[in-house]
Amino acid sequence: MSENGADREQWGSRFGFIMAAAGSAVGLGNIWRFPYITGMNGGGAFVLIYLAIVFIIGFSVMLAEMGIGRAAGLNAVGSFKKLGGGAWPLVGWMGVIAGFLILSFYGVVAGWTIAYMIKSFTGLMEAGAAGKAGDLFGAFVSSPAQVVAYQALFMFATIWIVFRGIGEGIEKYCKLMMPALFVILLVLILRAVTLDGAGKGLEFYLKPDFSKVTGGTILAALGQGFFSLSLGMGCMITYGSYLNKKEALPSAAMTVVFLDTMVAFLSGFAIFPAVFAFGMEPAAGPGLTFITLPSVFAKMPMGSVFSFLFFLLLFFAALTSSVSLLEVCVAYFKDELGWSRAKASWVLGLVIFALGVPSALSLGGHFPKIAGKDFLDAVDFLSSNVLLPLGGIFISLFAGWVWLDGARKEVTNQGSHPFPVETAWIWVCRVVAPLAIAWIFVKGLKW
Ligand code: TRP
Repeated sequence: MSENGADREQWGSRFGFIMAAAGSAVGLGNIWRFPYITGMNGGGAFVLIYLAIVFIIGFSVMLAEMGIGRAAGLNAVGSFKKLGGGAWPLVGWMGVIAGFLILSFYGVVAGWTIAYMIKSFTGLMEAGAAGKAGDLFGAFVSSPAQVVAYQALFMFATIWIVFRGIGEGIEKYCKLMMPALFVILLVLILRAVTLDGAGKGLEFYLKPDFSKVTGGTILAALGQGFFSLSLGMGCMITYGSYLNKKEALPSAAMTVVFLDTMVAFLSGFAIFPAVFAFGMEPAAGPGLTFITLPSVFAKMPMGSVFSFLFFLLLFFAALTSSVSLLEVCVAYFKDELGWSRAKASWVLGLVIFALGVPSALSLGGHFPKIAGKDFLDAVDFLSSNVLLPLGGIFISLFAGWVWLDGARKEVTNQGSHPFPVETAWIWVCRVVAPLAIAWIFVKGLKW
C-alpha cells in the first residue's frame, strides 16, 4: 500500500492535473490578498517585482516540488524518505503540519465567502449603501455561532471532495470550478472597467511608482508569491505524485505559475477600477474584500448580483485550494499509516475543523490573544512566515544539491524531453532561491 504501486490513484489527464494544481494555487491569496498587498505597496511597481519573482524563484521551486513528488510517487514525508532518507523526511513533516495549520484558518475565511454570497441578497447592499459594511462585517465575525457554522459548511465541502478521491473528486471538481472561476472573473472585470471613473483605478494599478519600492516591497512580493503558488509545504509534491511519467514537468509548472499569476493580476482589474470609480480607499488592507467591495457593489445597478458573483468566485477559488491542503495530510496518513482515504478525509478534516474553531472565535474577541495577536493571525504567521519559507529553503536545497541527478532526470523525463534552461534552474534551486527565501524569512520574522 505504501509503495508507488500500480494501484496508486492518478490524474485522468494532463489538463486535469493542471486544473487541480492551478486550483490549488489560485485561492484567497490571489483574489483577496494580492490586490490589497498591491494597493499597499504602490501598485504597478509592485506588480513588476512580483512578476520577476514568481517566474524565476516561484517557478523553480514549483518544478522542484513536482519533480520530487512524481519521482517518488508518494506523499510529502514518504517522498523525502524514499529519495533522501536521513533527516529529510522532517521537511515533509513540516509540510503536513503546515497543511493542518493553514487549512484550519483558511477554512474560517473561506466560510465567510459562503456567508457573503447569502448576505449579498439579505442586507449587505443596504449596509454598504449606508456606509455600514464595516459594522456588518464586525457583527458577523463576532458572532461565534454564525462564523463556526459557515466554517463547518466549507470544511464539509472540502472533506467531501477529498473523500471522493483524485480523479472523481479533486480533478473533477477543479475541472468544473476553475473554468467557471475564469468566466466569473471576466464578467466582473467587464463590469468594473466600464464604470465611469474606472481610469483612475487602472492608472493606480498599472503605473509603476518606483519611489514606493523598498526592501519591504520585495519581501512582500516574495512572501505573497510563495503563498499564492502553494509552495513550501509539499502540496505540489503530493499533486505531482499522482502524475504519470509521460507528461513534461517544466511546461506544466510554467502553466500553473502563469495561470496563478494571471488570475491574481486580473483580480486587480475587477477591483481597483470599481474602488476608484466610487471613491473608496484602495489601500484598505485585509478589509478590502469584505468591507470596501460591498460598499462598491452597493452603488452599482444590480449590485447584489455582482456581489454574489464575486463571493462565488472567491468560494470556488478557496475550495480548489483547501482540497489541496487537506490532500497533503490525507496522502500522508494513507501512504504511511495505511489509513483508507475515507477514514483519513473525515478524521483529519474534522480535526482541522476543530483546530480552526479558536481562529473562528478569535476575531470577535471570543478567544484569548497569543502574545498580542489574534489566534487566527498567530496561526497564519507561524505557518506562512515560518513553516513555508523553511520548507521552501529545504526543498530547493534538496533538489539542487542532494537529489541533483534524480532531479535532472525527472524534469527531462530521463533525458527524453530536454529542458532548455535546466542549468539555470539548478542554480536557482542551489543558491538563488534558498538565499532569497532565507532573506524573507529573517526579515519577515517580526511578530
Ligand atoms: N495558494 C492558495 C492561495 O493562494 C493557498 C494554498 C493552498 C497554499 N495550498 C497551499 C498556500 C499550500 C501555501 C501552501 O490562496
